[in-house]
Formats: sequence, C-alpha cells, structure tokens
Amino acid sequence: MITALSLNPSIDRTLTVPKFTYGGLNRVSSEKQDAGGKGINVSLVLRALNCDVCCAGFLHRETSPIFAKKLSAAGADYDFVFCPGATRTNLKILDAAAGIITEINQSGRPVSPEELAQMTEIVRKHAQESSMMVLSGSVPPGCPGDYYEQLIRLCREAGCRCILDADGEKLAHGLKAAPFLIKPNRYELEQLSGRSLKNRREILAAAREIISGGVSVVAVSLGAEGAMIVDKENALYAPPLPLQVNSTVGAGDSMVAGLAAAFDRGDSLEEAFRTGVAAASAACLTEGTQPFTPAQFEDCRRKVAMEYVR
Ligand SMILES: Nc1ncnc2c1ncn2[C@@H]1O[C@H](COP(=O)(O)OP(=O)(O)OP(=O)(O)O)[C@@H](O)[C@H]1O
Ligand SMILES: [Mg+2]
Repeated sequence: MITALSLNPSIDRTLTVPKFTYGGLNRVSSEKQDAGGKGINVSLVLRALNCDVCCAGFLHRETSPIFAKKLSAAGADYDFVFCPGATRTNLKILDAAAGIITEINQSGRPVSPEELAQMTEIVRKHAQESSMMVLSGSVPPGCPGDYYEQLIRLCREAGCRCILDADGEKLAHGLKAAPFLIKPNRYELEQLSGRSLKNRREILAAAREIISGGVSVVAVSLGAEGAMIVDKENALYAPPLPLQVNSTVGAGDSMVAGLAAAFDRGDSLEEAFRTGVAAASAACLTEGTQPFTPAQFEDCRRKVAMEYVR
C-alpha cells in the first residue's frame, strides 16, 4: 500500500473568458470545477497505474463530497481529518484569444494545533501500514515549515520509505530527515543548491551533494527538456518524448506517482525512471489532470529512451 498525503487540497476552478481585460469587465464563456491538489493528483495517477493507494490529509466538511466521490470512483481509499468550512479555491482565468492562463491561488484556512496533532496521528498509523509515503505540495497555514521533516522522521521510524515533492523551506527542511527520494524540477533544485544549473553535469553535481546528505534517489524533472535521475552509483537522462501535448498540468505529480509505484514494487533505478517518465509523458497527452489510459501509458513506456550521464 502507498499512502499519498494531501495536506492542502484545492478546488481548481477554471473560467474561460473570450478576451481578458485587466481592470475591465470580463464575461465568462465557460467554466469548470474539479477537486485537485498534488496529493489528490498523485493518488489518482497511482490508481491509473493499478496501485493500492490511500489518500490521507485535511479536508473541509462543506466541500468534502467532491473529493470523496472522485477518489472513490478511482478506487482509492482515503483517511481525512475533517475541518470546518470550505476548501480553498485555485482560480485559473483562461484568455481564449491569447491562450494565456492567469492563476489566483488561495492559501487556505489555517489548521489548528489540534487538527495538526490528529493529522500526525493519521500519518503515524499509515506509516505502519504502508511501505511508501508520498509527501507532495504546499501545506496549509498553521503547519510548521518543518512539518514534512517531522513526518519523514516518523515514517523512517516505522520503516516506511518517503518520496518528497516540495519546494522552498519545505524541501530544505525535509532533506534533513533524508527521504528515500526527492523530485525537484530545475527551479526547485536551483533554489535548494543556491546556484543556477546550466547543464546535465551541473545538475548531476547538485544531485550528488543531496545524495551525500542521505537521500537515496534524486529525480529532476526538466519540463520540455526531459528528466534526470541520480543515485549513489548511476545517473540517467531521458529526453522528452515527442508528444502531442494537451496539458502539462500535473506532469510532475504523475512522474512522482510513477516513481513511487515502481520503487515500491522493487524496480531498479532504470526501470523506475522508465515508469516515471512514461507516466509524466502520458499525463501530457490528457486534458488538465485527467488520468491517462493504460494504452497511453504503455505507448509512452515503449518510447522512453535513456542514456547515462557522467
Ligand atoms: N512539453 C513536454 N514535452 C514532453 N514531455 C514533457 C513536457 N512537459 C513535461 N514533460 C514530462 O513531464 C515531466 C515533468 O514535468 P515538469 O518538469 O514540468 O514537472 P513539474 O515542474 O514538477 O510540474 P508540476 O509540479 O507543475 O506538475 C518532465 O520531466 C517530462 O518528462
Ligand atoms: Mg512539481
């Protein structure tokens, strides 16, 4: 069983306007709304890869049905700390004429110390029942900056491996607890290393510094430039697949889910990387964070190429 944490879920609301006018009146031509957040996305991709998954996290009573319905429909288990009120909204305004999206994200309602303590207990329980825990995305106000670090330590004590996909101080603190794997993108790795990383050699050097601190695997996603994966012995680069890209939203989450699924079943670095890149690539074929089909995944998997980086 893999547990995916969803500490700061969101309702993703997309409004399409024919032509966006800053400071003017904009009329909405179409709108859609969906349950989202990185932990939810990772859970759904894990289901698309046929893994047993439990999504654990905070959820707000007023908006909980759309999350529960979505996870249930995909066959994912869930375990939530229920909070009062409604889930934060991440608003995306799509300017149809220019094809430009403006995003406005709410930070969410602060969690109380009691709710946080309940969450920690849920993680403690799932760390004992799961072989892998995925910690990804932002945390709500009220969560300490080192909360992921605390949770990773707790998982380590229970013998549960952790995958951390976070940025800024959450990532920097989290590293101190030496998770099994981290998946920064180039920007997140640059932030962490405190320098710009211009080529594969520089990325490899930055990844090896992190590995010397106790992390086993560093997977670096490079968007349209592909991806790298590094462990103590080896480093691999996979070029981007030539895809008919529909939306890259959630591609990083899909890579995390693919890596979690593969490493959890004991795959080698190479095989896990293939699964991670295939899942990320297949995610680019679908609209928004809609899960890919088994056929799309298999097709991508066959096309993944990789080479060693030295
Ligand atoms: N335009 C693209 N063409 C081909 N593959 C892509 C493209 N964009 C993303 N990918 C694949 O998806 C992977 C993950 O994408 P990316 O690096 O953008 O993740 P991310 O920055 O973590 O994104 P997010 O956190 O927003 O989901 C890439 O490493 C690559 O394999
Ligand atoms: Mg990401």
